[in-house]
Amino acid sequence: MKARHCRPEVSLLRRRVYGRDVSRHLQRTIKSRAVKKLFENNRRWAAAITKDNPQFFETLSLQQNPEYLWIGCSDSRVPPSQIVNLPPGELFVHRNVANLVVPDDPNCLSVIQYAVDALKVKHIIVCGHYGCGGVQSAISERPKGPIDNWLMPIKKLYDRKASVFGEGTGSQARVDQLCEINVIEQVRNVCHTGTVQDAWERGQALQVHGWIYRLSDGLLTDLEVTADGPASVPDL
Ligand code: CO
Repeated sequence: MKARHCRPEVSLLRRRVYGRDVSRHLQRTIKSRAVKKLFENNRRWAAAITKDNPQFFETLSLQQNPEYLWIGCSDSRVPPSQIVNLPPGELFVHRNVANLVVPDDPNCLSVIQYAVDALKVKHIIVCGHYGCGGVQSAISERPKGPIDNWLMPIKKLYDRKASVFGEGTGSQARVDQLCEINVIEQVRNVCHTGTVQDAWERGQALQVHGWIYRLSDGLLTDLEVTADGPASVPDL
């Protein structure tokens, strides 16, 4: 295989990390057209931004000062920054399947802590979406493996709120209704974290919002459950 030239610093790094040049291995990776496309896209994207603002990346590399923390679903059709049309640096993001805030998930709790205590975000947005595969799968009977454990809080929520769903509610409407209820439940979970409780207690301005996104028209709806202190945590 023909050796591919790479930037000298990359070659040096490879030698340091692997004790040898692994360019043949990387060559195989880079050859994939689907992956190559991403590097081409990246160069065009960076060039377009610096054309408008030559200092953009340099300035941003020195600090981040986002006003929002977004907690959303991993679904590829719900890309946070694009939906609200914000450039890099303005949205701190945490995503997982079905936008859950589980009280013993160190990943999500650390993100919330860093966002509130260090970055001092003013808004935490929990954003779900209609037709969420995670929500749908939580209420289906078929076991699917490890994901069942992750989605257990939604299953329990569904059982707890069984009375909300009318007899004649079709399966899609049922999923969409549960998507909304799930957002409200996760807003409550955010509000009940030690980080948010402490922030409110010391008088830090912080609002927690519940939104939902519709895949079929690209629009957000505010579920109007915004909390800005212990007294305004939404009921469910
Ligand atoms: Co989803």
